[in-house]
This record gives sequence, C-alpha cells and structure tokens, in this order.
Amino acid sequence: MSEGLLTISPMEREDIPRIMEIERQCFTDDGWTAEGFQREIDNKKIAFYITASLDGKIIGYMGSWIILEEAHITTFAVDPEYRNRKVASTLMLCFMREAVKQEVHWSTLEVSEKNEHAIKLYKRFGYKTVSVRKNYYGENEDAFLMWIGNMHLKSFSERLDEIEKEIS
Ligand SMILES: CC(C)(COP(=O)(O)OP(=O)(O)OC[C@H]1O[C@@H](n2cnc3c(N)ncnc32)[C@H](O)[C@@H]1OP(=O)(O)O)[C@@H](O)C(=O)NCCC(=O)NCCS
Repeated sequence: MSEGLLTISPMEREDIPRIMEIERQCFTDDGWTAEGFQREIDNKKIAFYITASLDGKIIGYMGSWIILEEAHITTFAVDPEYRNRKVASTLMLCFMREAVKQEVHWSTLEVSEKNEHAIKLYKRFGYKTVSVRKNYYGENEDAFLMWIGNMHLKSFSERLDEIEKEIS
C-alpha cells in the first residue's frame, strides 16, 4: 500500500462496532451479528481472528478456526473503499504463517461460485476447488469448497515468502 501504515492485530472486543460497519457494507443479507463475533473472539482455544488497520483505522478482517491439523476460514472482508490494494492478501499471509506455526497440514473454506475476487485471492495462495455445495448461499448460488494441503512442508513456507515479496 503506497500511503499509511498497514498493521495486523488480533481482533478485540472493542473492534466489534467497526467490524460491524464493514460487515454490513460487505454482506447485506447474511452477515454476522456482533454477538457472533464476540463468541468467536472469546473462543480462544480454536479461533484465530485478526484485523488490518490503516493508520489505526480498521479496514479489513478475517477469521478462522485452527483445530489440530486443519484450519478453516470462517469470514473475510475488506472495506469496499480499500479493496484491490492487497489488504486481504496481507491478512491471508498472516493467517497462513500462524497456521504453519501451529503445524497445520491443510485448510478449507467455502466461497460463493459468483465471488470472483475472493476466488482469485484464495487461488493465489494455492487453494483448489474440491467440491461444490449446491444452493449453499440460497437458491441458485452454490459454494465452492476449496482446499489446500501440504502446509507443513518447507516448500509451502517458501511459497509464502515469494507471495510476501510480491505483495510488499
Ligand atoms: C474478497 C475480498 C476480501 C478481497 O479483498 P482485497 O483486499 O480487495 O483483496 P486483495 O487486494 O488482496 O486482492 C486479492 C485478489 O483479488 C483481486 N481483486 C481484488 N479486488 C479486485 C477488483 N476490484 N478487480 C479485480 N481484481 C480484484 C486482486 O487482483 C488479487 O488477485 P492477485 O493477487 O492475483 O492480483 C474483498 O473483495 C471483500 O471484502 N469482498 C466482500 C466480502 C467477501 O466476499 N468475502 C469473502 C467471503 S468467502
């Protein structure tokens, strides 16, 4: 990002009002509630939730569950004003480094078949579509189940180093 300082931090309870502003802009019908985020943040055993802030203002966030060898992405959003500037890629990199640190082997997520930007983001990090969940997002909107493996291998961390160079 050319201007300002982008920082990644653990999501805290006091971040929730700002998270909800972004959530409402990004997901009109099926967004999460404040209570939902609170529950996740409190679930310290498995939840890994982070925010991206530009000069102190939260502009994006993502969440995941890390359970033994598996990491599942639960939510991902960037303020529409700040998109296509690698904010999501920076969050993803941080999540993946944490997953590697916790010796995760594979990761999964669901994404709408119509969400081309998110699909592009996930593919860049190596996720592949392994299955389709029919009408997952309502009638006529399927989800792709995406998966990435071999995250514990050295070659995966080397790929993350390359992506980090590309986005910095
Ligand atoms: C998906 C989302 C998180 C991406 O955030 P972002 O910060 O814009 O993403 P990045 O800038 O890191 O870019 C990720 C990829 O998407 C592409 N992309 C993002 N916005 C784009 C746009 N407006 N036009 C074209 N490509 C775009 C980038 O080119 C990039 O691909 P690349 O790395 O191969 O160049 C964001 O669009 C969003 O919040 N969408 C609404 C919520 C959502 O759909 N969440 C995902 C639910 S599964």
